[in-house]
Amino acid sequence: MKAVGPINPEWPVWYDPAAVLGSAVRYVASLSPKFNWVGIYVLRGSSLHLGPFIGTPSEHKVIRVGQGVCGTAVAENADQNVPDVRARDNYLACSLETRSELVILIRDLKGKVIGQFDIDSHVINAFGPDDVVQVRKIAQELGELWPE
Ligand code: SME
Repeated sequence: MKAVGPINPEWPVWYDPAAVLGSAVRYVASLSPKFNWVGIYVLRGSSLHLGPFIGTPSEHKVIRVGQGVCGTAVAENADQNVPDVRARDNYLACSLETRSELVILIRDLKGKVIGQFDIDSHVINAFGPDDVVQVRKIAQELGELWPE
């Protein structure tokens, strides 16, 4: 687990937003053995910043909006379900073993994108409709409880 760092300077010094986000990441990672890497990126300005994650450390700690699968999700305001990452020109490799990737946007109560779940799998086409529904539900709950 990795701390997200200060998102809001008005928070008390003891307040740890990573605890909330880390708990959500742990839960999502427990949903399926096919979820080999699970993390949350937090949107700050025009960049996504890697928060808590489970899996191999990624070199992509900051991703600009529009870059990679993660940045495309924000730019297009649309979740991404990529069955084979090798077919995506703009894919940013986190692990050579990754074959499919699911990005689910997290929105606040006003509908503004505030972050995303990023899930990688070693299996081609790992993410079915049930996975998408489950992760979207958690993204919605987290968005409603987002530490502002
Ligand atoms: N594959 C992502 C980058 C993040 S790593 O997978 C953790 C992308 O293309 O945006």
